[in-house]
Amino acid sequence: AALVGRRARSWWRWARVVGVVGQFEEDCATPVWKLRQVVDAMVVEMHAGLASDGGSKLKMLLTFVDTLPDGDEDGVYYALDLRGTSCRVLKVQLGGSGPKIINHKVEQQQIPEELVSSTSEVLFDFIALTLKEFIEREENGQVPGSKKELGFTFSFPIRQLSVSSGVLIKWTKGFTIEDVVGKDVSQCLEEAMSKNGLHMQVAALVNDPVGTLAVGHYDDADTVAAVIIGDGTNACYIERSDAIIKYQGLLTDSGFMIVNMEWGNFWSSHLPRTSYDIALDDESPNRNDQGYEKMISGMYLGEIVRRVLHRIAEVSEIFGDSAHHLSVPFILRTPLMAAMHEDDSPDLREVGRILEESLQTSGLSLKTKMIVVRVCDIVTRRAARLAAAGIIGILKKIGRDGSGGVASGRTKGKPRRTVVAIERGLYTNYSMFRVYMNEAITDILGEEIAQNVVLRISEDGAGIGAALLAAAYSSKR
Ligand code: GLC
Repeated sequence: AALVGRRARSWWRWARVVGVVGQFEEDCATPVWKLRQVVDAMVVEMHAGLASDGGSKLKMLLTFVDTLPDGDEDGVYYALDLRGTSCRVLKVQLGGSGPKIINHKVEQQQIPEELVSSTSEVLFDFIALTLKEFIEREENGQVPGSKKELGFTFSFPIRQLSVSSGVLIKWTKGFTIEDVVGKDVSQCLEEAMSKNGLHMQVAALVNDPVGTLAVGHYDDADTVAAVIIGDGTNACYIERSDAIIKYQGLLTDSGFMIVNMEWGNFWSSHLPRTSYDIALDDESPNRNDQGYEKMISGMYLGEIVRRVLHRIAEVSEIFGDSAHHLSVPFILRTPLMAAMHEDDSPDLREVGRILEESLQTSGLSLKTKMIVVRVCDIVTRRAARLAAAGIIGILKKIGRDGSGGVASGRTKGKPRRTVVAIERGLYTNYSMFRVYMNEAITDILGEEIAQNVVLRISEDGAGIGAALLAAAYSSKR
């Protein structure tokens, strides 16, 4: 009788676990018809955001980048790339006469956690000093005497005043330094640099995908858009200036301008949102904002998994007495989640090691580890497929999704080659994310058209592109 009782309890426990996971999977479903709704919603919101400021949650910000580097750029340029949890400094040597980056050097510095909620002065002093130390090392102790041009990649929403200046609209990705909001971030950086004895001037202030697009286009002229999938997510693309209705007065000579979509803030009722997403949003410092980003990017995927596992722990005892660790927000970072998801050992050794280390426990069963992998799979598959739908939305907006005649990406009946530059850890280091994203692109577009859409990985494009734009715009002055 005791054995029967134990078996029955175990059966009920697993039935409850399967119930939670099954419901979650159903709520996260992204069949092709749903992805197509997301594509169309993206197109509608792009139009609305281009029509007027505040017309959509998609800000569709002007970048003033209306010339792309053509290969004449020459010399050594520095760039500073403030991404979120880290900051990178770069030295880029450009070749002149034909697109050529002779070489580039990058150093990365973690942003100390306390800075994320500090003051403008503390943040900008920190990044100015990081840059100064890098330049001193590179220039054998010398810092530029006369003003030297710098590319500044600032990976937060900015309302540009010109190609080299812009004010922070609001913070994203967990930053809460209130006294920067509304300030010109180029000016903040220039002041911090000169205070610290570094005489440089921001020649190009760019949001990260804009840098990625500039360098992507420099390397491959079929590049029309760029996407970042890292801590946060965003995209930009080349838009005809006459289609930017809200800035009609500003028609450019080139006839185009790069538009920074700030797509992390995209929202549509077609997005498959679960109770876990709602709870995550409620507890975030930017509630009701960045809804798409919170389903797609690296800052959040591990945390969604953690929330589902916590729920499982509440209805069963499969995590034993370590379950309370699962109530700690952000204990499961996305790189750990990716490592668990990609564990191909038959006994899921890596999953066991990571979970046991994070939850300070031991002896988790194979069945428990399999459940964890399943949850990681559901979360990543949804993220990758939604990001793919966003990309197709952009292609559809600019007539490159092959859905119609010549204007929509076909020349003489043949689809036109279209390149989208992609940067950051989630796409580059997480192979399941990549597989799911490419699969979704084929699902949505069909094989023939999808063959002509190339997702091209860009390494450090966000920073190198800022240096390139600094070179292009300073030579124009
Ligand atoms: C966040 C920022 C955006 C940035 C993206 C990727 O969404 O708001 O500006 O491009 O993260 O870093």
